[in-house]
Amino acid sequence: MIQVAVLGYGTVGSGVVEVIETNKAVINKKAGTELNIKYILDLRDFPGDPYEDKVVHDFNMILEDPEVTVICETMGGIDPAYTFSKKALLAGKSVCTSNKELVANHGSELIQLAKENHCNYLFEASVGGGIPIIRPLNYSLTAEKLDAITGILNGTTNYILTKMEEDGADFADVLKEAQEKGYAERKPEADVEGYDACRKIAILSSLMKGKTVNYEKIYTEGITKITSADFIYAKKMKRSVKLLAMSKGTEDGFFAMVAPFMIPEEHPLFNVKGVFNAVYVHGNMLGDSMYYGRGAGKLPTASAVVSDIVDCARHPGKTIMCFWDAEQVELMDIADTKRRFFVRVKAEKKEEAAAAFSSIEEVNAGLTEEFAFVTDVMTEKEFDEKIASIGGSINRIRLEN
Ligand code: HSE
Repeated sequence: MIQVAVLGYGTVGSGVVEVIETNKAVINKKAGTELNIKYILDLRDFPGDPYEDKVVHDFNMILEDPEVTVICETMGGIDPAYTFSKKALLAGKSVCTSNKELVANHGSELIQLAKENHCNYLFEASVGGGIPIIRPLNYSLTAEKLDAITGILNGTTNYILTKMEEDGADFADVLKEAQEKGYAERKPEADVEGYDACRKIAILSSLMKGKTVNYEKIYTEGITKITSADFIYAKKMKRSVKLLAMSKGTEDGFFAMVAPFMIPEEHPLFNVKGVFNAVYVHGNMLGDSMYYGRGAGKLPTASAVVSDIVDCARHPGKTIMCFWDAEQVELMDIADTKRRFFVRVKAEKKEEAAAAFSSIEEVNAGLTEEFAFVTDVMTEKEFDEKIASIGGSINRIRLEN
């Protein structure tokens, strides 16, 4: 029997308990042993909850109980999750987490600590919720030289962009509605400014490179400047606007970024709508592969945490190999990366724009007060200089092929 402790009885933590209870027979069969929730750590009490007698408030009870071999850290945030995870690993207890913030900040250190103590630090649920993506990168695509990961990694922003596209609505109105329905947080910055997607692409990129991609060095732009007019143009161009988190090896170096992009209808991520997430991975032998599903939510995320517990049960006393060193990956300056841009300027700037960007394709979507166009491929730096020379734009969105 594997004795499990759950740290944090919130949405994901209670989901872990529910998944283990609901799918008990199949999970125990796949684990080759029985999983038992022995403790639930939370500051609160849960009178009337079927697991109320498992609730404890002192982490040391869990730490000092030799029977507990797996800890699910579903608290979120850095502290005390970081302290508890370190103490657990030092005591030889495996940790399975959904905490993307902690993994992005301290992933390589905690993996190393797990190795030294013959246990595991597993984090399938930290990216893409219930979508298996950490395991494929770690254990499945091991014959590949991976050179690109492109993902829709945030459900809230994908929901907002999808609603804007379908209803012709503006960002602020859709955000308000999403908050009222509980699809978006009351403090939405982490999602709408791209910070959540940034941490997730940092984790995926670190696994891809086997070294640390520092999320603080990833260029990150959110969706707050996208308007209903942008979608009118996107439709005309047979494109959609998606918040992409990407990292790519190019002939000039390796870059990572999060930003809204216009993608064409033949792009595999075009039809990823609503709260769904997808990750599109390119390897030099396999070519493209894509992983799609529910990137958030209680049961999908908890399912991924439980899959990690099953992995721990299958490897007692052993560390499952994971390559993620502390050494940092050198990232290209985003100013040197190259792409095309969709640009909207005031109608009276048409000639100036055409002169500054020598080769452009006009996009006429019937908005008479504006002139819109697509540039040639150029560096971000060149683009910024040219657009500044004509006094800026109404908006600009990067293009992805
Ligand atoms: N806020 C996140 C999202 C939750 O919207 O995708 C899952 O990490």
